[in-house]
Amino acid sequence: MGQGLEPLDQLPVGFGLTIMSNSNQPEQSIQDRPIIGIIGGGQLARMQAMAAARLGCYIHTIEKTADCPAASVVSQHQVGDWNDTKTLEAWAQSCDLITLENEFVEASVLEALEEAGHQVIPSASTMATVQDKWKQKRCLEANGLKVPSFSQLDSPEDLTAFGNQHGWPVVLKKRKEGYDGKGNATVKEAGEARQAWQELGGDACELFVEAFCPFVKELAIMVIRTPSGCQTTYPVVETEQQDHICHVVTAPASLNPELEEQVRALGIKAVEAVQGTGCFGVEMFLTAQDEILINELAPRVHNSGHYTIEACACSQFENHIRAILDWPLGGTELLHPHAIMVNLLGKGDGPAMPQDLRQALADPEAHLHIYGKKDSRLGRKMGHLTLCGQDPAAIRKRATRLADSIHFGDSLMLKNQPQ
Ligand SMILES: Nc1ncnc2c1ncn2[C@@H]1O[C@H](COP(=O)(O)OP(=O)(O)O)[C@@H](O)[C@H]1O
Ligand SMILES: [Mg+2]
Repeated sequence: MGQGLEPLDQLPVGFGLTIMSNSNQPEQSIQDRPIIGIIGGGQLARMQAMAAARLGCYIHTIEKTADCPAASVVSQHQVGDWNDTKTLEAWAQSCDLITLENEFVEASVLEALEEAGHQVIPSASTMATVQDKWKQKRCLEANGLKVPSFSQLDSPEDLTAFGNQHGWPVVLKKRKEGYDGKGNATVKEAGEARQAWQELGGDACELFVEAFCPFVKELAIMVIRTPSGCQTTYPVVETEQQDHICHVVTAPASLNPELEEQVRALGIKAVEAVQGTGCFGVEMFLTAQDEILINELAPRVHNSGHYTIEACACSQFENHIRAILDWPLGGTELLHPHAIMVNLLGKGDGPAMPQDLRQALADPEAHLHIYGKKDSRLGRKMGHLTLCGQDPAAIRKRATRLADSIHFGDSLMLKNQPQ
């Protein structure tokens, strides 16, 4: 049984379940090959589609480009703007239920889908709270969860006033559409406030500010909740960010059991606070005083859960698919004492396939994932690599060495390219 999994003594939910039909179509039994629509076509949609295929489900995606990572592994891929209500509604007609792989589809557009009779998981109302980091923090705080001090901003002067009150540095953030640190800036002193405001586009989009949290570790936990109320969590992991981008995930995090339990309980409480269903990532800060603050929620499968593909009985991707179908959840326990996941980031512009995979492929235990993006760019997540094993220091060293041998878009790769 998964960690924190509630006993399923009732009939397995979902099998033979009748799901909400599209507006003009007859009700359909889920036993007829569920067709799941995923909004977005990046690597998260790709890995969800691969997991869904194992369960006999079909995946339809919609993304702005044709050659996105998911396109080559799904049953149907449509090129279109998922933030256009008409386009999305037309696409959704072919799907039994809708989920997403990013938090950037406007909640109002999802609400229109719901009003047209489509089932959307997570719901439009959950997404309205989560996709705006400022609203999300207000909701978490209102539910008794500790977050870094934060404030909305109307001007660079407000930013300076916050820093002077709470101490420098502070973290300036876009309320919406930030990812991989792209919507964030650490502001070290009052003199940097105006420039940081301008660089993040503060005159054109809404920003807010947070006190800098002097964390000793960043932790994350994946929480899965089904519409009918079953829930489970994966082990607590440690994540390492450089320049606000995740580089390494270590599972399990090295924590004492009480702290681990606390993280687990906080993760569940945070997802409950936004009435989340499906798979959620909860990012947290651990301080030197063993205080845990929530950084943010991701209303979807998450980079800190990629290790679950090989390290756990049932991956976050499969459990997300099971959860949205209201099917029984799979085991979330680790099958190995330790696992390490290293992101393969683009080192510059270049082709999407790295030239030298030999070292990584030659390691019989390395699990390599290449996302099939159109091209490499600096800092872009191009793939990841997972190693499981007994000795955390040894697998970390090996995984890092293998990851370093794979080059996306840097001069070493170009040198190795055939002339
Ligand atoms: N208040 C903060 N204090 C200290 N570090 C922070 C703070 N907020 C963000 N960070 C750092 O930046 C990273 C990315 O920030 P986050 O808000 O999670 O943005 P993203 O949506 O890009 O993941 C975090 O994982 C953490 O390393
Ligand atoms: Mg984050």
